[in-house]
Amino acid sequence: MQNFVFHNPCKILFGKNTVPAIGTETLLLGKRVLLVYGSGSIKKNTIYEQVMQSLLAAGAIITEHDGVQSNPILSHVHKGIVLARTNRCDVVCAVGGGSVIDEAKAICAGTVVQHDVWKFFTGKKSIKNPLPLTTVLTLAASGSEMNSGMVITNDSTAQKFGFANKHLYPKTSILDPTCTFSVPQNHTAYGAIDAVSHVLECYFTTTDPHTPVQDRLMEGLVINAMESCNRVLEKTNDYHARADLMWTASLALNGLTSSGLGKLGFPMHMIEHSLSALYNVPHGAGLSAIIPGWMRYNMNKQPHRFAQFAERVFDKRTGTLEERATQGVSSLTDWFSKIQSPISITALNIPHTAIPELAENATALAKIWRMRDYSVEKIVEILHACL
Ligand code: NZQ
Ligand code: ZN
Repeated sequence: MQNFVFHNPCKILFGKNTVPAIGTETLLLGKRVLLVYGSGSIKKNTIYEQVMQSLLAAGAIITEHDGVQSNPILSHVHKGIVLARTNRCDVVCAVGGGSVIDEAKAICAGTVVQHDVWKFFTGKKSIKNPLPLTTVLTLAASGSEMNSGMVITNDSTAQKFGFANKHLYPKTSILDPTCTFSVPQNHTAYGAIDAVSHVLECYFTTTDPHTPVQDRLMEGLVINAMESCNRVLEKTNDYHARADLMWTASLALNGLTSSGLGKLGFPMHMIEHSLSALYNVPHGAGLSAIIPGWMRYNMNKQPHRFAQFAERVFDKRTGTLEERATQGVSSLTDWFSKIQSPISITALNIPHTAIPELAENATALAKIWRMRDYSVEKIVEILHACL
């Protein structure tokens, strides 16, 4: 286990009837609120009314910035920054999934600087005292509600980059599982896959040979993500299943699992971001198309690690090391298929002729994320393994 600092300053209010607290929690931080939300799901499932009522009762002066799209785009972030400045907003409240929360984080950071907010994503500038953020989470997936990351697509360069900074944690996030009852089956599945992938990125890129605490934590989160997703797909308003999935997704990317693992990479995300940037693929669907190929490409480099994953997550105990490793990859791939998520880029209707452009696009992010072992040639090989 490596040295580490674990400090997650985000306050979580978890459970039924927590949404009415968003007003007092937000007004602790500011009065002129920029309310950020998506394309309208919160107006169909009554979350909007609950949030508005709570903010107004607490004395908020509200400016609305709606229309955040899935895979949020820089041009819409710019509009939100102008709105926040013009209305002298001093706090931001995001109500939605990872796209809404990430766009809100970019607005928090971009409103208080003179340079283009994109400079954060290219590593040219660092974050200074962003506006404070509160959130109401409506989709279990990204973990953005409890982490310091944000992912935005530059719609003029078709680049989808992620950036993390300790000042980007939400101050408070409200996690009421009933807010996710209305999430459709496909996005429920994509969200569970995203949570699983956040664990796999750490599990399979750490090089530390002694991480039994983190391994058991990660294996348990993968099992929980799959099992709770299966229960939700059976019964969409199963409160305990939705609660298990929601908390699993937050824990999968809030810094806890990666603490002590040392240097990590996020190769599956680095490649997936190009699918979403160039083809607007839902993030979780892009991941299920990439993960099986990436695992097949890498499993013979770490057969013990893949065999341990197969044994502890899928109870595969017979056969050689390589056979067990292979069984683990196919069991995970079978689960992706079972929950109707694509297991190849072909299934996403992305032609093999697109591979050079995808690899070129991914290389730019690999450079920023300092993933020096991911040359364009290696990314091309992995994408061929994902066909
Ligand atoms: O537009 P709205 O109304 O919000 O509709 C959304 C959207 O259409 C809908 N939805 C959300 N909550 C709902 C609902 N529909 C009905 N009922 C509800 N309660 O679901 C669709 C997808 O929403 P979105 O926010 O895009 O999904 P998700 O939460 O998976 O976020 C995806 C984004 O998160 C980023 C991804 O790159 C992607 O842009 N990520 C952020 C990370 C982070 N900040 O740490 C890490 C992740 O790896 C990920 O990259
Ligand atoms: Zn993700």
